[in-house]
Amino acid sequence: MRKLIIEGQNRLKGEIKIQGSKNSILPILVATILCDEECEIYNCPNILDVKTTIEILKYLGCEVVFKNSCIKVNSRNLNKYDIPEKLMRKMRSSIIFLGALISKIEKAELTLPGGCELGPRPIDIHTSGLKMMGINISEKYGKINCYLDKKIKDKKIIFPFPSVGATENLILAAVKYEGTTLIHNAAQEPEIVDLANFLNAMGAKINGAGENIIEIIGVKKLHGAQYTIMSDRIVAITYLCAAGITQSNLILHEVSENHINSAISLLKETGCVIKKYDNQLKIISPERLKPIKNVRTMPYPGFPTDAQALLMAMVSIANGTSVFVETIFESRYKHVSELLRLGAKIKVEGNVAIVDGVKELFGANTAASDLRGAAALIISGLAARGQTIVSGVEYLERGYENINQVLENVGASIFFD
Ligand code: EPZ
Repeated sequence: MRKLIIEGQNRLKGEIKIQGSKNSILPILVATILCDEECEIYNCPNILDVKTTIEILKYLGCEVVFKNSCIKVNSRNLNKYDIPEKLMRKMRSSIIFLGALISKIEKAELTLPGGCELGPRPIDIHTSGLKMMGINISEKYGKINCYLDKKIKDKKIIFPFPSVGATENLILAAVKYEGTTLIHNAAQEPEIVDLANFLNAMGAKINGAGENIIEIIGVKKLHGAQYTIMSDRIVAITYLCAAGITQSNLILHEVSENHINSAISLLKETGCVIKKYDNQLKIISPERLKPIKNVRTMPYPGFPTDAQALLMAMVSIANGTSVFVETIFESRYKHVSELLRLGAKIKVEGNVAIVDGVKELFGANTAASDLRGAAALIISGLAARGQTIVSGVEYLERGYENINQVLENVGASIFFD
């Protein structure tokens, strides 16, 4: 397995351009199958989950070209409605092909998706919402077989939890579906807004994306579109935490500050100064971080669960105790055992993690077990005295474009073995 080697305690300095958003490009690539013309998507990150999504698109019969962060997709020859298990298992977002295939050819044959082990990650909110749209879904023998059974003209679907994936799945199923679909308690993440903007550029009629009620008025046909996706807000927080833990000043380009307001306010609580110029952010970090009394992960616009491990790594050397409450996933503290190897003092009780800041971390052998946990180990390694080895970097490659190169360019000593 590939490993990253980090020699810690370098100060970082310089500027970073933030990559396009993983959680935006994935549903937008799925949405391109909804028309029979070419779609051109710009600012695409070159990461493993994008490659996997392209593999699925090609399996379905789509023509896909990925060059210089632009992806062109043409689905006029799409001729399949099934996705093999080995592809479905590679990532969580493969499940939203379900809604898109129903829109395209009114049937789909998938299996349960894969993705980072953050808990059971059921799809009950997806399937119960789709069934309320008159889609017949049977889950037997590990397979999910679906077809559009009866067209229900006007549907009002109320989610028990603002699931990001389920919101995307239902939008994809509803855009070419006769009548109006209302989703109540919809996810409000910026990536949902990006998806809706792209679909509206294709001729869809989606109102209210980014709010808790989304209205989709079905249209008969969608057409090709050109679109530039948003920057990755979690990657931006990753590099802000890397600066914070190394007493560094960094400038980040292509950051939508209002997408990370919740994280910025917590970073300021630690004593970091964050300045905004147009779409740039400058972080000036203190010699010693202050702790954060209470970090509670919440659906957007609350503090994102994907940044929980990143911030925990950073405050592991704060001057005091920080308390984290993970409210989104059942099992999103797997990085804690690895942070302990680096000398962090963290106690987990259920979904609460108490982080007693230490003066210094010490390099060690560590192993990542999910995407953001891997990034958290890198953040800690940047501050640790001596050498930190991070294995399981294939998780990183799912969501970070050249993170080692990006950090090396601003002064970190980090390289693949
Ligand atoms: C998306 O996952 C993101 N992935 C995740 O990012 C992110 O952590 C998550 O949203 C929350 O913001 C992509 O966009 C590709 P959910 P998703 O449905 O859609 C439960 C990363 O690091 N739930 O909002 O799977 C679920 O178990 C990844 O980039 C059900 O119970 O998240 C979880 O506890 C990790 N039933 C909670 O809801 C369902 O049918 C949030 O899940 C669906 C979800």
